[in-house]
Amino acid sequence: MPEPLLEVAGLVKHYPLTQGILFKKQIGAVKAVDGVDFALGRGETLGIVGESGCGKSTVAKLLCQLERPTAGAIRYRGEDITRLSGRALKAVRRNIQMVFQDPYTSLNPRMTVGDIIGEPYDIHPEVAPKGDRRRKVQELLDVVGLNPEYINRYPHQFSGGQRQRIGIARGLALRPEVIVADEPVSALDVSVQAQVINLLERLQSEFDLSYVFIAHDLSIVRHISDRVGVMYLGRIVETGTDEQIYDHATHPYTQALLSAVPVPDPEARERRERIILTGDVPSPAAVPSGCRFRTRCFKAQERCALEVPLLAVPAEFRHTPGPAAHESACHFAAERQGVAG
Ligand SMILES: Nc1ncnc2c1ncn2[C@@H]1O[C@H](COP(=O)(O)OP(=O)(O)O)[C@@H](O)[C@H]1O
Ligand code: SF4
Ligand SMILES: [Mg+2]
Repeated sequence: MPEPLLEVAGLVKHYPLTQGILFKKQIGAVKAVDGVDFALGRGETLGIVGESGCGKSTVAKLLCQLERPTAGAIRYRGEDITRLSGRALKAVRRNIQMVFQDPYTSLNPRMTVGDIIGEPYDIHPEVAPKGDRRRKVQELLDVVGLNPEYINRYPHQFSGGQRQRIGIARGLALRPEVIVADEPVSALDVSVQAQVINLLERLQSEFDLSYVFIAHDLSIVRHISDRVGVMYLGRIVETGTDEQIYDHATHPYTQALLSAVPVPDPEARERRERIILTGDVPSPAAVPSGCRFRTRCFKAQERCALEVPLLAVPAEFRHTPGPAAHESACHFAAERQGVAG
């Protein structure tokens, strides 16, 4: 991996569950993020994938310092940013920008596009363009493929895809190094998704950006990611290069997700085995003992309830280098034929 720009270690975010109105008593915790580790190299794209509710947006908010972690470190250029405050925090925030999931609700409907894209300059006057801010905003519109003359229009005058371009332009205004994109195309029509992903790829090379790209669907991150982390109930359960994850997954959860990705080729579809996950995702306030995936795992055994599997290269692959030798948090990690498309 290239030199890491961001390093996340033991990241935890628990939201207290309280009872009582006047005298609040903590009766538990929603373990939204429960021990996440990863690194993001310069110029790299890390895809984070998992079902709804597994903690993806919470990770995004923690990275952008919109939330403070319960425990753990987020090192940016080697410095733990979770301990910063005041000006130092502000400077870091500028460099890690978020693109939100829903372009319909994330843009203020009463502001013009020019004010929306230029707003970050009010928050960070130290990097605001000297002189002509309007021209700078028009440049940003042009960069994301929108007509610069639209600067005085309002969000409702744009389509979903165009609104997401506005969100991206706003994210770029401060010239960040890292963009955390939280399901940036999930709310868009399939036909528009590819256009927005292509735009993000072009901007990555043009502006030397590193991406954390979040999605609930493995097929969306495949094209854009160099590496992928698969999340389940607050943890990353498997991580590797796109080839390792898509063609040599060893974790039963990843295999189940892959087996559900639609395949256009009917012959490949015939050959493929579909793994049906039974039951619902458990509540993050009541995480199962041992392996947190065990209540839905088709391979679960007694050991899975007793021992927490760690995210590491499984022992059986450690001495046989090959694509199966990547981190997987499963006691019985093994490749499975016929799950990928
Ligand atoms: N502010 C909050 N207070 C309490 N629980 C929360 C809060 N934010 C998120 N959660 C819970 O944390 C879990 C993870 O949420 P989230 O990070 O939004 O997941 P995802 O983005 O993967 O769908 C969910 O169970 C959610 O209900
Ligand atoms: S540790 Fe056990 S329950 Fe967990 S994924 Fe592996 S086989 Fe399934
Ligand atoms: Mg989310």
